[in-house]
This record gives sequence, structure tokens and C-alpha cells, in this order.
Amino acid sequence: MEEKTENTQESTSPVPPKKQNAFVTNAKKLFQAGIPRASLQDYDKTPPTEEELKENILIVNHLKKYFPVETNLIGQPIRYLKAVDDVSLRIPYGKTLGIVGESGCGKTTLGRTLLGLYGKTAGEVYFDGADITDFGERQMNTIRKDMQVIFQDPYSSLSPRFTVGGIISEGVAVHKIVPRDEIKDYVMALMERCGLQPQYYERYPYEFSGGQRQRICIARALAVKPKFVVCDEPVSALDVSIQAQILNLLRELQTEMQLAYMFISHDLSVVQHVSDSVGVMYLGSMVECGPTDRIFENPMHPYTKSLLSAVPVPDPRRKKDRIILQGSIPSPANPPSGCRFHTRCPACMDICKEQAPVYREYEAGHSCACHLYPQE
Ligand SMILES: Nc1ncnc2c1ncn2[C@@H]1O[C@H](COP(=O)(O)OP(=O)(O)OP(=O)(O)O)[C@@H](O)[C@H]1O
Ligand code: SF4
Ligand SMILES: [Mg+2]
Repeated sequence: MEEKTENTQESTSPVPPKKQNAFVTNAKKLFQAGIPRASLQDYDKTPPTEEELKENILIVNHLKKYFPVETNLIGQPIRYLKAVDDVSLRIPYGKTLGIVGESGCGKTTLGRTLLGLYGKTAGEVYFDGADITDFGERQMNTIRKDMQVIFQDPYSSLSPRFTVGGIISEGVAVHKIVPRDEIKDYVMALMERCGLQPQYYERYPYEFSGGQRQRICIARALAVKPKFVVCDEPVSALDVSIQAQILNLLRELQTEMQLAYMFISHDLSVVQHVSDSVGVMYLGSMVECGPTDRIFENPMHPYTKSLLSAVPVPDPRRKKDRIILQGSIPSPANPPSGCRFHTRCPACMDICKEQAPVYREYEAGHSCACHLYPQE
């Protein structure tokens, strides 16, 4: 959305304009800049078709999450950090969308915003056939059990004051998943399924290793029988040997429970292993998204190409030319003009510095935003 610009037309009135106090003028400007951004919805809303709603558990259109970073004299935001800026995606029932990108590109904010843990700035979200865009807290609570999250850090995400059994059964009791007298048996069976011995029920999280704690987090998320889980770097804090066990567990449970995942990671090898499709984020925007094999065999966006060039290949005879990006990631509070990647892109052209490329589909389910490809 464009900021309001001042009227620069010269006055034709014979009366000289009244001189305003500089303090009042500045305060007025700041106030105007801070006017709520209702018009951030700067596109035509096109609801998904019935077919699309049937196919996808999650459809996100033009999602934005801006964090205020500067306020005016009366506390209204005048500058935003655009952590998620115009992201659209869809996840079919029972499938996994991997999200990759460098640290700070907005992966976690995207996950949290679409789960309703952060209020969104703009955009639409459709979940399990319903438009949940304008759901308030109470309505979100009715679908909360269907959308769960597994966080990166299994140490800080478990309350040390509760036993393992207490942690996992809390959601089961709140959402009345099974009758009250069956909760313990239900939780113990799930613990076993997640590789935790049932006798751990009465023990506390501090007694467990990182891998076991992550199993507790997985059991807690799945105990309420969700349909969709955001896995935010679920194995990054774990040893490589434990990573494989946790990934296999997530996969098995996905098949058993027909779960859909959004799998966030900065590790492309892991994402390739677990995902049906992959979205690549840069500075708050989705720059490319497509089926996993197409992204890995035929990456379109120069940023995706550079990320993939850093992934080690198992065959030492197959040499890869590593694409080293120049410079560091710009601040999302002050993103570059035009294509946000232009300050680091090895293929940058003049147009890239001025005009943002259109994010559009080039082959079935494979979209990209780059001036190297036709824009119309
Ligand atoms: N609550 C917040 N308030 C203000 N800025 C925030 C907030 N949360 C995140 N940010 C900023 O938003 C941007 C995106 O952060 P986010 O945590 O989503 O990135 P990420 O891709 O998950 O990074 P990482 O790979 O390190 O986890 C960053 O610049 C971050 O500083
Ligand atoms: S639009 Fe231009 S700067 Fe951006 S990725 Fe494509 S070629 Fe590079
Ligand atoms: Mg993160």
C-alpha cells in the first residue's frame, strides 16, 4: 500500500497560507503515517474454488505480518518490519510443505501467523474447508486442536512443573478427546507409539535427553488428533543420529493419522527427505514454491539455485559449482526496492532494482518470482 503523499500543488489563493507551528505540522505528518493500514489488502480477493478447498487443508492468500518497529508521538506505528510480506501457499490433505530460507527470512512468523498465534496484518487463510480469515480468539479455540505446532527447542517448550503424563494429557482433557477415565491409558499408548516408555508418565521433562523431549513434544501435539501440524525446525537441536529417528516417527505418524505438515527448516537435505513440495522464502516473501523433485532438479529462482549449490552431494564424482552470494541479508525493516534479492543476485538486471517481479506459476504447482522469466 502506498503511503499518503503530501499535496505539493501550489496554492492559487491570494491569501497567504497560515503558517503552522512546526511541532503541530510534524505531529500531523506522523499521525497520518500511523493511520491503521486497513488498505493493506491491496488486491482483489478471490476465494478458492470448492475443488481447491476439498483438495487442500490449508490455503493462504497474500498473507502479511508486519511488526511495528517505530511509533509516533501518540504511540501509533509509523515504520514496520515486514516479517511476512504477501505469502501465498497451499498444503493438500495428508501432505508436507517444506519451508526453507536463511535465518530471519520469516519462516517462524509465517507458521505462527497462519496458526493464529500472531494476529495477521493482511491476507486470507482457509483451513479444512472454512474461511478462518476473520476468526476471533473464541472461534480459533474451536479449531485450535486441529492445528498444532512442534517447536524447535524441546528444552524451553516443555513446562518443568508438570509431569510428562500431565503435559500430554492436558490437551486431551481440554478437548475431550477420550472419556476422562480413559485418558491415562490413551496417553500411555501414544507415548509408546512415540518411542517413550509408559512408565515415564510420572516423570519430569528435566529427566530426559533432547531427543526424548522432542518425542514428548510430538506426543503432546498429536494427542489431540490434529489434522495439521507446523513443525518448526523440529530436529535442528538434536544429534544427527536422533534426527533420523524423529523424522521417521513424524513420517509414520503422518501416514497413520493422515496428517498434513508444514515443515520449517534451514536444512535442505532434511526438507528434501520429508517434503512433497518446497517453498523458498527470502526476506519475508516466497520466491519459489513447487513439487520437491522439481525444486531440486530444476530450480528456477537464483536464490534457490544458490541455496541448492551449498547442499553436499553423496557422489564425489558429481561436482557442484557453489554459488557464493555477495553481502549479507538486508533488514526486513528496510528491504531493497524492486526485487528484494537484487542486492545479492548474480543475475541482477536494471529492471530488478526498480520493479518487483510477479509471483506466478510456470508449470503445474511450480511458482517463482523473478524477472528472468515472462512476467505476463
Ligand atoms: N515478535 C517480533 N517482534 C518484532 N520482530 C520480530 C518478531 N518476531 C520475529 N521478528 C523479526 O521478523 C523477522 C523474521 O523472523 P523469524 O523468526 O520469523 O525468522 P526465521 O526465518 O524463523 O529465522 P530462524 O531461521 O533464525 O528461526 C526477523 O527479522 C525477526 O527479527
Ligand atoms: S528478479 Fe532479478 S534480482 Fe531478482 S532474482 Fe530475478 S534476476 Fe535476480
Ligand atoms: Mg525460526
